[in-house]
Amino acid sequence: MFTNVKVSDKIYHLGVNDRRKHLFENLWPLPNGVAYNSYLIVDDKTALLDTVESGSDRRFVERVADILAGRDLDYLIINHMEPDHSGEIDAVVSRWPGVTIIGNAKTFSILKHYYSRETESYEVKDGDTLSLGHHCLKFVLTPWVHWPETMMTYDTTEKILFSADAFGSFGTLDGGIFDDEIDFDRYYLDDMRRYYSNIVGKYGGMVQKAYAKLADTEIKTICPLHGPIWRTDPCRVLALYDRWSRQEAEKAVVIVFASMYGNTEAMADYIARRVSEAGVRDIRVYDASKTHVSYLISEIWRAKGLILGSCAYNGYMHPSMERLTTELTHYGIKDKALGLFGSFSWNGGGVRNLKCFAETASLPLAADPAEIAGRPDSDKLALCDAMAEAVAAEVLK
Ligand code: FEO
Repeated sequence: MFTNVKVSDKIYHLGVNDRRKHLFENLWPLPNGVAYNSYLIVDDKTALLDTVESGSDRRFVERVADILAGRDLDYLIINHMEPDHSGEIDAVVSRWPGVTIIGNAKTFSILKHYYSRETESYEVKDGDTLSLGHHCLKFVLTPWVHWPETMMTYDTTEKILFSADAFGSFGTLDGGIFDDEIDFDRYYLDDMRRYYSNIVGKYGGMVQKAYAKLADTEIKTICPLHGPIWRTDPCRVLALYDRWSRQEAEKAVVIVFASMYGNTEAMADYIARRVSEAGVRDIRVYDASKTHVSYLISEIWRAKGLILGSCAYNGYMHPSMERLTTELTHYGIKDKALGLFGSFSWNGGGVRNLKCFAETASLPLAADPAEIAGRPDSDKLALCDAMAEAVAAEVLK
């Protein structure tokens, strides 16, 4: 029994829910799992758009065959080569050896490193089209959303965009597959922002280039490779990704601290209180040693204000803060109202290296860093007051 879902009369969704994997890319936690989406168009010609992660569904090829009902598979279109989508290529080619693989030049340069099998291939360039009969597909190259070969396929007949990783989300599809069948705000919004910031966030500039390319394209339905299909309100997900890729943040402040014996944590709570007194209503405080960096990145993406604190550790910042700041540098985080703080016992190193991070990341400070020797007694807090007020003022302006 296969639960095949139709996107439209001739287009099928072949989704797999992965609830076993703990870490996406062996890095990012998946408490709500993840879905891999594949799509099959059954027209005069038949075309499979991407596959799924190898082993995530042992019945994947049988599901394709079930829908084809004895017909051959004419095309396998590879929008994205990352193995969470290309994992069943070998199985598909084994089952339908006459299939023609469609990709761009970079697709094939990556494909040859993964699959050595001789197969018919057809290289497309940006804007090329392919008629399947009723459906006419147009290929839109969108490099670095999320790998260099990534492209989207646009069905000009039904105005459906097969968008690869773009507009995707963490989280399995639990019964509801389309945006009008789910409670998106409750179950997917946070996971989508975490997916965007963790997986695609580094390439915001390339996401904006993809938007520019699609500016004059009428899009009725968005079929991503992860998460729900958008057929009722595609503008919602277009707006979210547009905002996140421009790093347009909310009037919120995220305070992340790394503390060994509670002094830096006490400073974090004091600063949070002062930010609240300055009028900010959306404030979150996180312990970098406890909350996985994946969630911290997502929260930092959301908030205009960012206040980082670390104790000194072997003349440097605490390793949990070092991990976070390294990730933030890789992601090219920008446009933050930034404050720094921390404590030390003799020679320091926490705040000193947080300042190095800010310089490396080209993030100006809203105020001088607040650094305290030992306990944060009340007579040592003037710099915390000034920094909290400066960050709050920048966030609220
Ligand atoms: Fe879902 Fe970049 O792979």
